[in-house]
Amino acid sequence: MKQSKNNPIKFLAKLERKIIKDLEILNNHFHRFTNHIHPIKDRLVIKIKLYEDLNESQRKSVNYTFRKVYQITLEKHHEEWEKPHYLALGYLNNKLIAIRYIVLAEALFDGTPVKLAGTGGLLTLPSYRRLGIAEEIFRRVDDYIFDNLNIDCGLFICGKSLVKYYERLGWTKLTCYKLFYQNNDNKISRLKKYAVMIKSKSRIYNPELIEINGKLW
Ligand SMILES: CC(C)(COP(=O)(O)OP(=O)(O)OC[C@H]1O[C@@H](n2cnc3c(N)ncnc32)[C@H](O)[C@@H]1OP(=O)(O)O)[C@@H](O)C(=O)NCCC(=O)NCCS
Repeated sequence: MKQSKNNPIKFLAKLERKIIKDLEILNNHFHRFTNHIHPIKDRLVIKIKLYEDLNESQRKSVNYTFRKVYQITLEKHHEEWEKPHYLALGYLNNKLIAIRYIVLAEALFDGTPVKLAGTGGLLTLPSYRRLGIAEEIFRRVDDYIFDNLNIDCGLFICGKSLVKYYERLGWTKLTCYKLFYQNNDNKISRLKKYAVMIKSKSRIYNPELIEINGKLW
């Protein structure tokens, strides 16, 4: 803070960031406290909607919430990545606090066509984390993709630090695979660094070569 005191704009911006952070911490304590009385995950209202069916105000609130976590609106995000077909939206007292999206995609697993539900964009707003909200959304979306969409399996990519969490939710990390997809210039790219998580209802998939017919999500 000391250095930026000479520059009032920088100083105010820094102060603003600090106040927002402090408010988030305070909010988190409040939600943890009320969570003991009425578990928030039991009061969470989850709606699964076709992305195209969102009205203007829903679209705005999705973009606003997405940007708060990923520093980019969802609309901007799918200029580079695949556009979602469905959104799972988690509301607490009519406030959007959590999101996970679903993309319908086709792929070849070792040369065999497979219909995929790709999921992504999972988020919970910082003040509401570690209360089981993402887990609630996860379970609901998992049920939805297997009960309502005509797919063979679910697939998403994630950072390696979250693998254990997703394994607890019934997903499996592929161990030996090469995954290719189309990048923004329609060129074939190979996925690196990330973990690939997979889930299916009946048969077990463990492909060595995955070719996504389109962009990744
Ligand atoms: C990941 C995220 C969605 C979890 O939301 P949440 O509502 O707090 O999740 P839950 O309450 O159901 O589960 C919390 C658990 O997630 C795991 N977890 C969350 N963030 C983690 C991280 N960065 N690294 C490792 N594990 C993590 C932990 O196991 C945690 O349990 P703990 O509190 O006992 O340590 C949330 O932290 C978030 O929005 N993060 C930023 C966006 C992101 O990384 N999304 C995932 C993209 S694959």
